[in-house]
Amino acid sequence: MPSIYLQTFGCQMNVADSNGLAHQAWSLGCTFTDAPDEADILILNTCAIREKAEMRVYSRLGQLKAIKRAQSKLLVAGCLAEKDRAVMRKKAPHVDALLGPRDYRQFKALLADWGVPTDLPPPETPMRLPSAEDAPGEDSPAQYAHLRALVSITRGCEKFCTYCIVPYTRGPLESIPPEEIETQIQREIRCGAKEITLLGQNVNSYLYEGLDFAGLLRRVSRIEGLERLTFLTSHPHDFNRDVVDALAELPNIEPRLHLPVQCGSNDVLAAMARLYTIEQYLEKIAYFRERLPRWALTTDIICGFPTETESDFLETLGLVERGTFEYAFVFAFSPRAGTPAATMEPQVPQEERLRRLQAVSAAQNERTRRFHESFIGETASVLVSGPSKKDPARMAGKTGHNITVIWPREASTEPKPVVEVAIEQAQTWGLVGRVA
Ligand code: 5AD
Ligand code: SF4
Repeated sequence: MPSIYLQTFGCQMNVADSNGLAHQAWSLGCTFTDAPDEADILILNTCAIREKAEMRVYSRLGQLKAIKRAQSKLLVAGCLAEKDRAVMRKKAPHVDALLGPRDYRQFKALLADWGVPTDLPPPETPMRLPSAEDAPGEDSPAQYAHLRALVSITRGCEKFCTYCIVPYTRGPLESIPPEEIETQIQREIRCGAKEITLLGQNVNSYLYEGLDFAGLLRRVSRIEGLERLTFLTSHPHDFNRDVVDALAELPNIEPRLHLPVQCGSNDVLAAMARLYTIEQYLEKIAYFRERLPRWALTTDIICGFPTETESDFLETLGLVERGTFEYAFVFAFSPRAGTPAATMEPQVPQEERLRRLQAVSAAQNERTRRFHESFIGETASVLVSGPSKKDPARMAGKTGHNITVIWPREASTEPKPVVEVAIEQAQTWGLVGRVA
């Protein structure tokens, strides 16, 4: 049976898609390897969100050209496959096939073209992916990877924020039927999952025969054995009090919300077509803070969007300095061909984008460290990720707020999924403690 090398770039959506592809291949009897030079089929599941992501993929494609065996097949899947469909042949002629995020139903037919028999019964052994860096779902060793599961609830996005390539690569919004979502969650729990993340570009736009996101949350949170529930990503325009009220009711929801603000200036928000003002954003989070005190609010920020002036930037910086967010992913604007923002004038010079990014990151780091310090002296329930990559003598995991915790590994203990850790030290990157 052919063996597959699968490497994933980009967001959690891609990680979930890679798991889906891997599952399809496994059901036909394929095996997996972390050695690209030994694989019969090489798959890169790619990202096109920013130029840097794209460059990483092309550089990996260059490496694979030298590594891959002549008779092996190379498939590029994901957002870059869709975005660069027309130019991939020229840029990377050794690629044998492209599958965009909407084409995964054709994956088995492609494998059949490549000689994989499709009429055999599924294997009796469970699916095992190698624990290579960037392999799907494997930021933790195989022993712990199954503790966390990603479950898609929507596909695509129709928001068309003016900087974003996703609506072009992933297509229009589609909500997955609740029964399918429940079945998938139950399957993951049976395989040992303790934490389920509901995934979508904008989970708040979920709507299936009258069932909205708040309703879906209430419904899935009742699934037996579901210990920890969370979700990604919310759009501030669609995020509402109903969702906050639902979150406040759920016993197993993790105390964190990712609500990308993108910037603090109304002029720039309008140019981004974000569909809310900063006042509306602040009003929504005021209600959220009132109902859900001590949750972690995290966000995404883009620095140096076209037309952003110094005073627009200072509004974003002020928002961060006032401690609005516990954590922020801060990006420099990256023009994506085909999106309206790529040709908006005036563009902010790259150096200036980076200067603003540095300033916003530094301010956020201050706030993040202070948030982490508030946990010193407390005991945190930590979902284990595995031995720390930097120091195998320590274990690493995440709290319900999604804060990284490390602690000295205890010799000769059975691997436990959840460990109580007494927090002793705080850093910007996370917390240090010992088993309570
Ligand atoms: N440039 C910079 N950042 C971007 N993002 C999306 N598109 C771009 C772009 N063209 C960021 C947004 C989004 C996150 C996933 O990536 O902040 O929320
Ligand atoms: Fe992109 Fe905006 Fe859709 Fe998010 S909501 S995927 S930023 S278009």
